[in-house]
Amino acid sequence: MRRAKITVIGGGFVGSTCAHWAAAKELGDIVLLDIVEGMPQGKALDLMQSGPVERFDARVTGTNSYSDTAGSDVVIITSGIARKPGMSRDDLMATNLKIVRSVTKEVAAASPNAVIIVVSNPLDAMVYAAFKESKFPTNRVLGQAGVLDTARYRTFIGMELNCSVEDIDALLLGGHGDDMVPLPRYTSVAGIPVTQLIKKDRLDAIVDRTRKGGGEIVALLKTGSAYYAPAAATVQMAEAIIKDKRRILPCAAFCKNEFGVGGHFVGVPCMLGRNGMEKVIEIELDAEEKKMFQTSVDHVKELCAWVDKNWSAAE
Ligand code: NAI
Ligand code: 2OP
Repeated sequence: MRRAKITVIGGGFVGSTCAHWAAAKELGDIVLLDIVEGMPQGKALDLMQSGPVERFDARVTGTNSYSDTAGSDVVIITSGIARKPGMSRDDLMATNLKIVRSVTKEVAAASPNAVIIVVSNPLDAMVYAAFKESKFPTNRVLGQAGVLDTARYRTFIGMELNCSVEDIDALLLGGHGDDMVPLPRYTSVAGIPVTQLIKKDRLDAIVDRTRKGGGEIVALLKTGSAYYAPAAATVQMAEAIIKDKRRILPCAAFCKNEFGVGGHFVGVPCMLGRNGMEKVIEIELDAEEKKMFQTSVDHVKELCAWVDKNWSAAE
C-alpha cells in the first residue's frame, strides 16, 4: 500500500511539533520545509533518530525545496510569524499574508491534489488567502483552530471537575479570535450536560478563559505562542483525512449557505475524510448563540476584506 505523504511548511515550533506528532503516529512519510537552510534538515534527522527509542518507523525529510514536497496528500502550512505579548492575531496580517501567498503558490504547483490545512495566523484570513492563491476546490482547504480551542475548553472543564478530559465532549464555533463561541449547550461529560455539573458563573469564567487561551500562553512564554496543543490539533485533522475516518471536528471550513454565512471560511463542525471537508454539520443555535456567532463571522469578513484590499501588495 502506498504510504501517505504529509508536508509541513514552516519548521518552527508548530511545524516541527506537527512533524513530531505525525511521525509518532506513523501517519506516513513526512516532509518538513523551511526557508532557513539546514534547520529543517537537522530537525528531521533528529526526529527520525527518536524512532528507535519511541518505536515508530517514519521517513522524515527536511528540505528547503518544494520539489521534495511533490505529490503530498496533506500539506500543513505553519510558516509565518507568531504573536508576542501585546499583539493580537490580527497584528500578524501583513507579514503572514505575503508568506502564506508565496508558500501556497509553491504548494499548489507541487501537490495539486493535496488537502491544505492552514495554521498560520490570523487563521481565518490566512485560510481564505490559501484558498484564493491555490484555486483549490473549497473542500480541499481547511483551517485549524476549533480543535485547539475546543481542547482548551475541555482542559479547563476537566480541571474544574477534576475528571478525565477523555470524557468531555464539546463544541465551539466561529473565528479563531477572542470572539470565538464555545457552546455550553453542546458540551457534555460522559453524556451528562455540563450545565448540570458546573454552575453558570464558573462556566462563564471557563468560556472566557477559553476565548483568551492563546493570549494566556503568549503572556507566559513572552517570545512566541503555543505549539504543543496547536500541533496535536492539526495532526488530528490530518489523521482524519489520511485515514478517511469521517471524524466530526470543528474546523475553519467554507460555508456557503450553511449557518447563513454566505461564502466564507469560519469555524463550524465538519466531517473530515479523504476529500478533506466532506460536509459541514449544521446545528440549531438559540438567539444568544446566533448573535455571538454573527459577531465572530463579521470579524472574519472584515479580515477577508482586508486580504482582498491588500492582495496585490502582498505578492
Ligand atoms: P515560528 O516562528 O516558530 O515558526 C515559523 C517558521 O516559519 C519559521 O521557522 C520560519 O523560518 C518559517 N517561515 C517563514 N517564512 C517562510 C517561508 N516563506 N517559507 C517557509 N518557511 C517560512 O512560529 P510558530 O510558533 O511555529 O507559529 C507559526 C504560525 O502559526 C504563526 O503564525 C502562529 O501565530 C500560528 N499559530 C496558529 C495556531 C492556530 O491554532 N491556528 C496556533 C499556534 C500558532
Ligand atoms: C493560539 O491560539 C496563537 O493562535 C494561537 O495559541
